[in-house]
Amino acid sequence: MLADRLVAWQRQQGRHHLPWQNTQDPYRVWLSEIMLQQTQVSTVLGYYDRFLKAFPDVAALAAAPLDEVLTLWAGLGYYSRARNLHRCAQAVVSEHGGRFPETAEVLMTLPGIGRSTAAAIAGFCFHERTAILDGNVKRVLTRVLGWGEDLSVAANERSLWLAAEAVLPDKAADMPAYTQGVMDLGATLCTQRKPACLTCPWSDICVARREGQPEAFPVKTRK
Ligand code: ADE
Repeated sequence: MLADRLVAWQRQQGRHHLPWQNTQDPYRVWLSEIMLQQTQVSTVLGYYDRFLKAFPDVAALAAAPLDEVLTLWAGLGYYSRARNLHRCAQAVVSEHGGRFPETAEVLMTLPGIGRSTAAAIAGFCFHERTAILDGNVKRVLTRVLGWGEDLSVAANERSLWLAAEAVLPDKAADMPAYTQGVMDLGATLCTQRKPACLTCPWSDICVARREGQPEAFPVKTRK
């Protein structure tokens, strides 16, 4: 129910024109997710197309000298991402025959691909029912569920992953819209300060809103 509403909202009101949407190519989705890990959408937009022009597929990236990859990455920061990107492309070619694995579990074994990134690729490209839990998604879910455990405690973070899995849509075909929807909600309405509850598809079921303090979630006593 929670998921269905978000899927409908994403289809009507979510973002549809980001260059890494409307593709099921895991190479393109992977590249966007790595760039978006620590960088805002508006900055990534300027880099993404240039990068794809230089390296149109995973084989081209794997074969490129690291220097060229780092040059195209210059300005995005967190250069370990670019080094891992290159290593990951080489691993896809040498260990997986040039094709990205299709499950989050196997994707996570590749350099630079953590649990959320793996789930985003598997959900967008292969419709796997698997949860993402990045900073935006933690905020959205803790608010709607009224989930008030301290997220600086590792055991609590593990239980939030379980909660994130429990609210996934039943239909695998809805995974791309759901995954994009939860990201869109966190980026556009369910913001850290002054969330736009009035236009949120979950406002009537959101526990944090009912309690009158959405900004109190997520609870995190330590950075
Ligand atoms: N941040 C991480 N992944 C994203 C995506 N697919 N769209 C927009 N922002 C994102």
